Amino acid sequence: MAREVLITGATGTLGHRVVCEATDAGHKVRALSRKPHVGYTGVHWAQGDLLSGEGIDDALEGIDTVIHCATQGTRDKDVASAHNLFSAARRAKTDNIIYVSIVGIDRIPLPYYKTKLRVEEALEASGLGHTIIRVTQFHDLIEMTFKMQRFSPVLSAVKGVRFQPIDTRDVATHLVSMIDDGPRGRVDDIGGPAVLGHDDLGRLYLSSRGSRRRVVSLPVPGGIVAGYKTGANLVPANPIGKIGFAQYLTRST
Ligand SMILES: NC(=O)c1ccc[n+]([C@@H]2O[C@H](COP(=O)([O-])OP(=O)(O)OC[C@H]3O[C@@H](n4cnc5c(N)ncnc54)[C@H](OP(=O)(O)O)[C@@H]3O)[C@@H](O)[C@H]2O)c1
Repeated sequence: MAREVLITGATGTLGHRVVCEATDAGHKVRALSRKPHVGYTGVHWAQGDLLSGEGIDDALEGIDTVIHCATQGTRDKDVASAHNLFSAARRAKTDNIIYVSIVGIDRIPLPYYKTKLRVEEALEASGLGHTIIRVTQFHDLIEMTFKMQRFSPVLSAVKGVRFQPIDTRDVATHLVSMIDDGPRGRVDDIGGPAVLGHDDLGRLYLSSRGSRRRVVSLPVPGGIVAGYKTGANLVPANPIGKIGFAQYLTRST
């Protein structure tokens, strides 16, 4: 059934995929951005700022499902933005807010993860219909950990840390498939097709570029890496992603 869907973070790494997927699935899609998107772009844009609240009531008018992909990556801003979104959703009588969270946020002491947890808690306490889905790291993020080392003679990987990266196209397909389910609260965490060491992912990255550099695994102290080493960021029992890291790299290079 076609729904009126607002996608926040519609210009982002995940959000732009969700816009395409939801449109292809026949939903009436409104895409939120702080910037104006003038001219015909094939998408109905709403201009608004979740942090200031400007334009958000208009963006939510007539919307029954929100897929919340917007983030600013800093603690207070994301929590304040979420409160503004939830207040506007209450006024608009929105049926379901689908929130994209991250696997392991309650077990890995990364400051950004504490923010995600606070947004989850605020949504659960809001009284709004909602769905919370935790997702493993995107391929893009893993690739970035390597791309930023482009001037280094070797590629460093964090020793003992594994990832189960997922393609944003697979995440988008899954999110859009949940629209018809309506609000379900916290649902099963999802991850990519394979669990691989950071070093293995580094070798796949180098190989995709035909690079002769080598990967060096380095021990990194501290509670955050210790949290990752426990595997708290993995969901081996629910590998819904189909596009692996190597396949992602062949498309993105
Ligand atoms: N990266 C990962 O590996 C990963 C893994 C699991 C889950 N997640 C979660 O997935 C979600 C999407 O992540 P992403 O990497 O796709 O994000 P991203 O690429 O950084 O995109 C962020 C989006 O947020 C929008 N935005 C920022 N501040 C805003 C504001 N004040 N008002 C309205 N829009 C605002 C931006 O839109 P404009 O600039 O156009 O306004 C942009 O489209 C996040 O919640 C993230 O925590 C990420």
